[in-house]
Amino acid sequence: MNTIDLRSDTVTIPTPAMLQAMMSASVGDDVYGEDPTVNALQEKVSALFGKESALFVPSGTMGNQVSIKTHTEPGDEVIVEEEAHVFVYETAGPAILSAVQLRTVRGTRGMLSADQIRETVRPPGYHLPRTRLLCLENTHGRSGGVVLPVKDLRTVSDYARGEGLKIHLDGARIWNASVASGVALRDYGSCFDSLSVCFSKGLGAPVGSMIVGDRAFIDRARHFRKIFGGGMRQAGFLAAAATYALDHNIARLADDHKNARWFAESLMGLSQLEIDLDNVQTNMVIMDVKRSGRSQREVLELLAGKGVLLTPERHSGIRAVTHLNVSRTDVETASKVFHSIFQ
Ligand SMILES: Cc1ncc(COP(=O)(O)O)c(C=O)c1O
Repeated sequence: MNTIDLRSDTVTIPTPAMLQAMMSASVGDDVYGEDPTVNALQEKVSALFGKESALFVPSGTMGNQVSIKTHTEPGDEVIVEEEAHVFVYETAGPAILSAVQLRTVRGTRGMLSADQIRETVRPPGYHLPRTRLLCLENTHGRSGGVVLPVKDLRTVSDYARGEGLKIHLDGARIWNASVASGVALRDYGSCFDSLSVCFSKGLGAPVGSMIVGDRAFIDRARHFRKIFGGGMRQAGFLAAAATYALDHNIARLADDHKNARWFAESLMGLSQLEIDLDNVQTNMVIMDVKRSGRSQREVLELLAGKGVLLTPERHSGIRAVTHLNVSRTDVETASKVFHSIFQ
């Protein structure tokens, strides 16, 4: 049986062309700053986002955690949208690594308003924590890969900066946001003091993320990357995969978005599933299975038994993600499997 793996866009396997690019990379010791492929990638990505500097890190989690550490002092408070990866899926990293307090705020499809920030920022006072940083995520995974509108981001960013806050974006899938919205990466970049972006999700590289920001921020982040164990030596082999991914795999994300949309629409007639089509904006489809009378686990097992892999999402949801190892034929086959179970 041919398995169709819709669990995540992180499951992609490097193509022969990407492996070839990795094998022919020039490398050096990146902890000494001597890896030419890493240095070129850092310059390329900082230019894409209109920032002064960038730092290659092994993972999106490290990108977020090093950024939080770099922006804050122990005891600071960080405002974070309550469904954000950095709060839900990073195993309390900010509490452990940065000794900061996370203040969660419920967003609307991942977005917070300037009013919500206004209500949340602490006034100065010796008995209060200092609100230091705001973290957002674009695309927003737990809402189903929705794109945060750049107009709203600009408004919130202006407000937060006016309050003296720094603002960080978890941009693991910023490429998807840019392709879906037509907004340039540098326009997203200008809304944030730092961004963490990933090459190992929809872009199909095996490993690697990048922090971008101004030069002083990245110099300090380099110090914390070393403390967190993220200093890599001949990392150029990995940077070559990321460079290949940037050069070849951004525009094709539109195909993943079309496949996700097609898949969601093909399931709309199934009354046992609830899907909010307005949230299907990029490469994810979240569906609620409670009307099927089956548990989330039962549904996932049934689907897996027929060769279609998805992940659980919140209590009664399941999530499908399209990516470069999933073709239109694959989503058609997956749709037939759904129809055979939920008809
Ligand atoms: C939105 C978001 N941020 C950060 C991460 C963390 O990336 P990594 O798995 O590379 O640590 C993920 C992982 O899927 C993610 O979806």
